[in-house]
Amino acid sequence: MPEPADVQRGLEDVVALESRICYIDGKGGRLIYDGYDIRDLAAQSTFEEVAYLLWYGRLPTASQLAELTTRLAGLRVLPDTVLQILREMPKDALPMDVLRTAVSALAVFEPEETKPGAASIGGAQRLTAVLPTILGTFHSLRNGKEPPAPRPELSHASWLLRAIRGTDPDPLEARALDVALILHADHELNASTFAARVTASTLSDLYSAVTSAIGTLKGPLHGGANERVMELLDEIGSPDRAEEVVRAKLARHERIMGFGHRVYKVEDPRATILRDWSKKVGEAKGSLRYFDLLRAVEGVVHREKGLYPNVDLYSGSVYALLGIPRDLFTPVFAVSRVAGWTAHVLEEYEDLRLIRPTARYVGPVDLAYVPIADRGVAIDGPKPPA
Ligand code: ACO
Repeated sequence: MPEPADVQRGLEDVVALESRICYIDGKGGRLIYDGYDIRDLAAQSTFEEVAYLLWYGRLPTASQLAELTTRLAGLRVLPDTVLQILREMPKDALPMDVLRTAVSALAVFEPEETKPGAASIGGAQRLTAVLPTILGTFHSLRNGKEPPAPRPELSHASWLLRAIRGTDPDPLEARALDVALILHADHELNASTFAARVTASTLSDLYSAVTSAIGTLKGPLHGGANERVMELLDEIGSPDRAEEVVRAKLARHERIMGFGHRVYKVEDPRATILRDWSKKVGEAKGSLRYFDLLRAVEGVVHREKGLYPNVDLYSGSVYALLGIPRDLFTPVFAVSRVAGWTAHVLEEYEDLRLIRPTARYVGPVDLAYVPIADRGVAIDGPKPPA
C-alpha cells in the first residue's frame, strides 16, 4: 500500500490555504486584521468598523460605516417562526444549541442565500445582526420574560448587553464589550473558522457554514475556556490560595484554563488588552476581586510552567462584571466571531478548492469476506443500542 506523507495530528503547522483576512505572529505576539494591528483596532475602532474591514478588506469611510451601522440595526428582527422556535426551546437548553438551531432555522427564510455556493455580504450582515437578538430572546424567555424590544439606535455591543440584561449599558460597559467583540472577531484558521471553510468548500451555503462553525465553537477546547476560568476563581476564593490550588492542579497534570496557545509562544495580545479592561471595569464597579485573583493565578502559572495567558483568561471576568451569565460567554464569542466566519466563507468562494485532506490507513486490507451465516456468535463485540 502506498504510504502517505507523515501524519500532522491536529493539522498542526499545516498551511492549508492563503488568506488576506488575519495574520497571527505567534512569536512576536501580534494579531493583524487585514493589515491593522489589533491594538490599534481595540483602541480606536468599533465592532461594526471591524466587521466592515473583515468583509470588504478595507476600513470604511464615515458614510460607509454609518450605512453599515444603520443596516445592521435594521436587520435585528427575527422572523416570527424563528421566534416561535425559541419559545418552544426548553428553558434549560444549552445556549450554544439554541444559537445553532436558530441559525439553521433562519436559513429557511433565506432562499437566495442557501442555494449551493451562495453567499453575499448581505447574508453575512443579516447573520451578524441577528445573533444578539437570538441570545437576548432565549435568555429573556428562559427567565419568564418577553423578548427584548428592538432598540435600533444602540450600537451592536450596546444592543447585545441590552438584549441580555434588559438594561442599557453605561458608556464604559458598552465600550468594554465593544472591545471584547473586536478582539474575538477573527483568528485565522481556528477550528470553527476552518469548519466553516470546509463546509463552504463543498459549495454548500453560508448558513450551513455558520451552523457548522457554531457547532465547532461549542467544544470546550475552543470556546468555553473562559467559563472554566471563572470556575477556577470560585474554587480559589482569595488570592493567597492561588498558589496552593494551582500547584495542586498542575501536580495532577490538569490544564489551567486561559493559558497556553497553539500559535502564540508569548502572551496573546488579546489577553494584554483584556487584562486592562478587566481592571478598568472592576474599578468602575468597585471590585477588583476577579482581577486580583487572576493576577495571582498568572504569577503561579508563569512561574511553574512558563505559560502565558490567552484571550480566555481575562474575558470571563469582563463579561461577569458586565452582568453576562456564564453560560452565555461562548455564545457571546459566536456573536463576534460570526463576522470572521462569514468573511472567510466569502473568501473561500472567491478561490474555491474542495478541502479534503487524507488519512493514513492503519487497518487491514486483505481480510476475506465471511458470509453472515458463517460468522458464529459475537461474544466480545460492542452491544447494539437498546
Ligand atoms: N495548563 C497546563 N499545562 C499546559 C497548558 C495549560 N493551560 N497548556 C499547555 N500546557 C502544557 C502541556 O501539558 C504540555 O506539557 P508537556 O509537554 O509537559 O506535556 C505543553 O504545555 C504543550 O501543550 P500542548 O497541548 O501540546 O499545546 P497545544 O499547542 O496543543 O495546546 C491549548 C494549546 C489546547 C490551547 C492548550 O494550551 C490548553 O489546553 N490550554 C487550556 C485551554 C484554553 O485556555 N483554551 C483556550 C484557547 S484560546 C481559544 O481557543 C479562543
